[in-house]
Amino acid sequence: MAKVTFKSDNKTVEVPDGAQIVQVAEDNGASIAFSCKAGVCVSCLTNINKGMENLNEKTDNEKATLEGFAAKPNQRLACQCKIMKGEVELENP
Ligand code: FES
Repeated sequence: MAKVTFKSDNKTVEVPDGAQIVQVAEDNGASIAFSCKAGVCVSCLTNINKGMENLNEKTDNEKATLEGFAAKPNQRLACQCKIMKGEVELENP
């Protein structure tokens, strides 16, 4: 099991390894915005405060979108992120 904290909502939930962040947020009422769920629109841009190393690797698509948006190094697209292990803390930018 992994653990994710949605700091903006002051909410921590345990999830199976490999859980998809937008899905976890939706299932638990956390306030992550999203639209396309395809790594294109950037509406799900999220600050990863802790546990970046516990997320899946960025796909080429996510890398290109983040670069095009000049995202910060600690930011990921929640719709493209899976929590692979351990603990992750994130918050809305
Ligand atoms: S929901 Fe569009 S990039 Fe994540």
